[in-house]
Amino acid sequence: MERLDKRLANTGRWSRKEARELIRGGRVAVGGEVCRAPETKVGLDAAVAVDEALIGGGGPVYLMLNKPAGVVSSTDEPGKRTVLDLLGEAYQNLGLFPAGRLDQDTEGLLLLTNDGPLAHRLLSPKRHVDKVYYVEVDGVLDEGDAEAVRQGVKLADGYVCLPGELEPLPGGRAAHMTLREGKYHQVKRMLAARGKPVIYLRRVRFGPLILDESLPKGGWRALTEEETQALFRQ
Ligand code: URA
Repeated sequence: MERLDKRLANTGRWSRKEARELIRGGRVAVGGEVCRAPETKVGLDAAVAVDEALIGGGGPVYLMLNKPAGVVSSTDEPGKRTVLDLLGEAYQNLGLFPAGRLDQDTEGLLLLTNDGPLAHRLLSPKRHVDKVYYVEVDGVLDEGDAEAVRQGVKLADGYVCLPGELEPLPGGRAAHMTLREGKYHQVKRMLAARGKPVIYLRRVRFGPLILDESLPKGGWRALTEEETQALFRQ
């Protein structure tokens, strides 16, 4: 359940303030009845209409998930637990899918949405949306690795990665790594090419979205209005 004004704002079509004005102005109906109270709680499957046009049987939904290790970033994979399995019943038939993928053993920030055009834009290789990872390696990361990442690491198959950033943390066993592309197993392959295999990986940022550290592993929440708007500006 979420507030009606939030539900409208989550579509990215109205700010929270505009949504409140629409609602108070009698232009919003829930289940066919005009509703003038912005704080009314509505389920994601409630039929919400603005000026008699449904915003969808649930409207666009944007969720931030703190993906735990052990679940796959797909909607349906026989025999495997998927990120959708972590959501409640009400979220199963909304057409949600993960915008991008994290490996089964990778944790952290995953955007789940049913907004295909937005996901497509965010994932387009031309957009170079920043992805930031916290990574731990078997080895010690140093300035040589940071320089190699800045220049563009050459993978075992000969592909030269776009320049990124690597900031080793004190001791060098962990680092923050920023990439602007999303090739298969990219962080693992880049650091394997440097002889420092990844032993733990967590995504902490995706474009303007920062992992909400108050979310437990497997926890999720709807994006705030500010987060949704920031995604649209990306
Ligand atoms: N790079 C990887 O190697 N794995 C991920 O899950 C994400 C980025």
